[in-house]
Amino acid sequence: MRLLLFIILFVVLLPLFLIGVAIFTWRIRRVCVPQNISGTANEPYASRLFMHIAGSRIDDAGYKIAKYLPSYGGIVRFLIIDTTRLACKLSGYKGWMFSYPGPRPSTLATLMSHRSYFFDESIREALTRNENPATQFVVLGAGYDTRCYDLPEGSDINCFEVDMPPTLNAKKQALELAGVPHDHVTFVETDFNQETWMEALLNSGFNPNLTTYILWEGVTMYLVEEAVRDTFNLITTLPSGSAAGVDFFSKDLIEGNPPFERISKAMHRGIKYYSENLQFGIPTGKKLSAGIEELSKESGLTLTKFEHVGSEGDKLPPWYFFSHIEKH
Ligand SMILES: C[S@@+](CC[C@H](N)C(=O)[O-])C[C@H]1O[C@@H](n2cnc3c(N)ncnc32)[C@H](O)[C@@H]1O
Repeated sequence: MRLLLFIILFVVLLPLFLIGVAIFTWRIRRVCVPQNISGTANEPYASRLFMHIAGSRIDDAGYKIAKYLPSYGGIVRFLIIDTTRLACKLSGYKGWMFSYPGPRPSTLATLMSHRSYFFDESIREALTRNENPATQFVVLGAGYDTRCYDLPEGSDINCFEVDMPPTLNAKKQALELAGVPHDHVTFVETDFNQETWMEALLNSGFNPNLTTYILWEGVTMYLVEEAVRDTFNLITTLPSGSAAGVDFFSKDLIEGNPPFERISKAMHRGIKYYSENLQFGIPTGKKLSAGIEELSKESGLTLTKFEHVGSEGDKLPPWYFFSHIEKH
């Protein structure tokens, strides 16, 4: 019944939504891409916005900054997000891509809620455990992630957001205009493919002797293998108890090996639209987690939690993996 009501309301609002999508698309190609502001950062961000407006996963800071971002700013937030919010609110619908933590096994439609939940839990565990909690929080490839603005109550944590300068500047400006407090966050500019983020962090006041949690969500697939290995080798230099949350696409998906030929082509094409490239995928073995376990082990780290989208019985084997990796 709720779904039916949502569909009816959404169809009524569809013209506004479509105008919003058209302006959004134009802005990505004509405003963001020419200035090297990440276009792909909008994808996970939009999923979190949709969960927020449905009331299933609250992200006040994310919603506030939307109004000032080059992609969703001004009228676009109203046309895409607020129209959908109205349909969700009047119908009470919170299913499908609006759900959180979402169903298991997750699907293509619910993979973002699965991903958000996995990393929310990974962060919560590292920052709030009684013994040796992390007191530094680093978000690598932060994009429009807002976890630093929604920390567990009472926590006194130094936060660092690392990304390339154009995306970081767009976000900083949006935070300022939206009045979201961000004094506890240090913004660090780097290019993972060119230089080590650790050097940039150290120059920005990062303390390598403190237990640290690193969120590296939605980034490895855009990097070259060397940059991924370098990052693992840097995480292992942090004190014991430090941890990282990292997601990977499978190597077979990235390379378009059978049975991923069609989906691989579609994904490469989709990402090219943002003028970005999918580059790195993790090998799988008899066990889906084999490649991540090996990569972690080679760097002196331990894989302690692993989940994947979909189920091993599906026609298309799982190709998207979430991992929590620790320095013991
Ligand atoms: C898909 S977005 C994910 C953003 C955020 N982690 C999230 O989940 O919402 C990928 C982010 O990684 C950043 N990124 C990609 N390649 C990078 C590189 N070589 N150096 C630094 N940041 C990079 C992009 O600018 C973008 O913000």
